[in-house]
Amino acid sequence: MIKLMVLALLGLIGLAFIQVLRPIEEEPVPIPASPQRSGDPEAGYRYLTTGDYLKSGLPYALFLAGVARDPANELHRDSLNAVIPYQYTAVKASNGEVVVAPNCMECHAQVFDGKLYVGLGNSMIDFTDHKKLNPRLAVLAQKFLERSNPRQLEAAMPFLRAMQAISGDLYTEVRGVNSADRLANLLVAHRDPQTLRWSGQPVIPVSGRVVPTDTPPWWLLKKKHAMFYNGFGRGDFGRFLMASNLLTVSDSAEAREVDSHFNDVLAYIYSIEPPKYPYPINATLAKRGGVLFVEHCAKCHGSYANVGPSDKSTPSTSGGGGEYPNLLIPESLVGTDSMLYKSNYQSPQFIEWFNNSWFAQGDHPARLEPFEGYIAPPLDGIWITAPYLHNGSVPTLEAVLNSRIRPTYWSRDFNKPEYDYAAVGWKYTREARPAAGADRSARPAAAVGRSIYNTTLPGYGNYGHKFGDRLTDAERKAVIEYLKTL
Ligand code: HEC
Ligand code: HEC
Repeated sequence: MIKLMVLALLGLIGLAFIQVLRPIEEEPVPIPASPQRSGDPEAGYRYLTTGDYLKSGLPYALFLAGVARDPANELHRDSLNAVIPYQYTAVKASNGEVVVAPNCMECHAQVFDGKLYVGLGNSMIDFTDHKKLNPRLAVLAQKFLERSNPRQLEAAMPFLRAMQAISGDLYTEVRGVNSADRLANLLVAHRDPQTLRWSGQPVIPVSGRVVPTDTPPWWLLKKKHAMFYNGFGRGDFGRFLMASNLLTVSDSAEAREVDSHFNDVLAYIYSIEPPKYPYPINATLAKRGGVLFVEHCAKCHGSYANVGPSDKSTPSTSGGGGEYPNLLIPESLVGTDSMLYKSNYQSPQFIEWFNNSWFAQGDHPARLEPFEGYIAPPLDGIWITAPYLHNGSVPTLEAVLNSRIRPTYWSRDFNKPEYDYAAVGWKYTREARPAAGADRSARPAAAVGRSIYNTTLPGYGNYGHKFGDRLTDAERKAVIEYLKTL
């Protein structure tokens, strides 16, 4: 009897221990696919570059006089669009006035070595510019139009009121990272979840702070079962793609019309191929790297069909066209900066808004499913997408693969950007620790173009992902050579 009781007690203690020791999540979690709408890639490209998914912006003449005129016409657009920068589109507002609205290429295109790549994340974007992102600019524009042109004011107002409400809350600590996640939170906060109508007062609180991200390239999406770094974008992707419309949308009837084009936009995004590495690749070295990759990396990042441009006859490492496992990797395994995924838990009201909104309804609903970790992304075209990790905290692939050499404070030249094709990434300078408080507390005017990446700031950490540390220098070189082939 006593023996039994002791055994039972031991059992209980054992159970308690298992409870305490059980980590929250320690295995990668596969993401199931969800059905997507099909569409016409050419129509999608046209809509993306000339379409009116935003129907408000600055009056055309005011834009040309006050913001920018750009005859380079990289997108080869005609008529009114021919003289404005590729990041903007001239559209007709609902009252017939022509306005210039920002488009997706503001964040999702970049000139690299003299050529514009649509779909490459813009790693030059400047959210430190407190002058351009000053809500007072939108107030001044409103005042000016009130006096000069009431019809243009009407056309511009949805854009101006959004800028007045949110633009002062989008600043990042360094140039080159994006605050789109904050933007989404702020826009949602000012919208009724069903009608999508604007509300001057936020309908839900916006908590936390700006989380910096590095804009991912579009050509990866065709492999992914979920959108965004922490894989929380599930269901219909088109619904997320069109979310920019929240900046100026008037109501859900307009959203429905815009949504009807995003099957085509998705088809276009799916059609984009990663750019090829432009210099010779050492095929023997790349092949060795490919073997190491299969051993150390493929279980998370998948396998790839190509082994190098000069080695086309070699069968792929996986046989066939490669396989991408679509895995979410818990923080306990990847160990990178946790602020991004945590922000989704710290703002349950945002997730709730979305999952009960117009976006989550109808015959192709979307939903948000947060996860305590990040998706292991496909690595196609990885050579051109520096800086690396979800917050762009690591300037080169060499440093991704060797956490000991990652710079704590680093800068790159934004005026004359230079790429390092050996380390694969941006040429950077190690910087001294900024004087206490100098970088963060800089007053608006002094903050423009801040270019020192300080990885000790919350959300900007460059730790974790140490999977390359156990390789020798020679092995790392081989893996980098292999990564150039993807
Ligand atoms: C203000 C900058 C900005 C604008 C404008 C913008 N995006 Fe994004 N986009 C981002 C950022 C940053 C991310 C990554 C956010 C994350 O994963 O946390 C992203 C993610 C995405 C992704 C997901 C990629 C992936 O692999 O998960 C797609 C696709 C996308 N955007 C398409 C669009 C389209 C289409 C438009 C225009 C209708 C658009 N975006 C407008 C900044 C922007
Ligand atoms: C246990 C899963 C896992 C293993 C093993 C792994 N990775 Fe990753 N990797 C990830 C995750 C998750 C991320 C995204 C982390 C983040 O952005 O915070 C990532 C990010 C990356 C990135 C940056 C991607 C970008 O667009 O910024 C590169 C490059 C990379 N991994 C290469 C490798 C290589 C090479 C190996 C093998 C030496 C490897 N990884 C092993 C999970 C893994």
